[in-house]
Amino acid sequence: MTLTLGIETSCDETSVALVEDGRHVLSNVIHSQVDLHKEFGGVVPELAARDHLERLPQLLDLALAGAGAKPNDIDLIAVTRGPGLAGCLLVGVGVGEGLAAAWAKPLTGVNHLWGHIYAAMLARTDLEPPLLGLVVSGAHSDLVRMPEHGRFEVIGRTRDDAAGEAFDKAARMLGLGYPGGPALDRLARTGDARRQPLPQPSLPGLEYSFSGLKTALLYRLRDLGDAVTERDKADLAAAFERSVVESLLEKLDAALTEHPYPEVVVSGGVAANTLLRQRAAEVVGARARLTMPPLELCTDNAAMIAAAGFLTSPPAGEVGPTFGVPAKSKTSWGEAPGGGAPPPITVDPSLGWQS
Ligand code: KG4
Ligand code: ZN
Repeated sequence: MTLTLGIETSCDETSVALVEDGRHVLSNVIHSQVDLHKEFGGVVPELAARDHLERLPQLLDLALAGAGAKPNDIDLIAVTRGPGLAGCLLVGVGVGEGLAAAWAKPLTGVNHLWGHIYAAMLARTDLEPPLLGLVVSGAHSDLVRMPEHGRFEVIGRTRDDAAGEAFDKAARMLGLGYPGGPALDRLARTGDARRQPLPQPSLPGLEYSFSGLKTALLYRLRDLGDAVTERDKADLAAAFERSVVESLLEKLDAALTEHPYPEVVVSGGVAANTLLRQRAAEVVGARARLTMPPLELCTDNAAMIAAAGFLTSPPAGEVGPTFGVPAKSKTSWGEAPGGGAPPPITVDPSLGWQS
């Protein structure tokens, strides 16, 4: 049995998790900063970074207690190194490096986007690549092929806004505040998408675009002006949601036809959306097996980082650029040649799929 400690601080969730063999969640403690950023209508990076630092020690204690584990039981520490907010990433990586040095444990830096795919491996412990993934989060709407562990090829992405960003902006226009996606989801459940339809974005190939749809909603609200009713807002939320979801799935459908993989993963914060969850199952149908992580593993969490860190780290003995083993430790992860402290992890806020 191998125990991985995961740390996630890339945006506005602070999370610490313990995962066994990269597949079984023993604890996954998440602190959302929603209340901190609410009055500003969005994430304030400076406040976010400071809050991560303040919360991490307590979350670490809770995660260890929840798993019934002690620092000595840990075999690997996995921390998000990007993409994300620079100051926030630095806090997580700094704490990860501090713990690795203090406890003499190996440390690995994890790509946050990979984490979103690996969340599905926690939901289904027998899930293996090759797979086709759709990662929809606050900053990404990416279609990826994953031929094997730790290898990703982007085959589709957005030209402008990400799906989550579009939901957040639409929610703000509808006066729903922050965080927008979940609020828009709730309002859409009470509306009728057919009453005030909005255009569905359509670009050739596997590209997405959501900025035109956002403008269409803005103009519709401007036309309605002060006469806008609560029912209008609910109908427009439903119409907006339908256009985003159908656009996301139209390309997933095309990608699956082009690249018939046996497994499909839809994940990231937006994969918590009610309509997307329903419709993805219908669109994929019997062509492939669809895995959508449960809600708490769709939005940002450290369990997915632990899973990705464990399942993609170099095998025992090999030390990669973001992976080090302090001289004192001799674990199943091998010993660092020459010993010494783990090499520092490079934080990369703009990291793409290739790490
Ligand atoms: O993956 P995530 O937690 O953080 C990033 O890596 O960005 O995704 C956050 C995004 C936000 O834009 C949020 O509004 C959206 O996911 N989101 C939702 C729902 N829950 C979260 N969007 C639509 N419906 C939801 N239920
Ligand atoms: Zn995320």
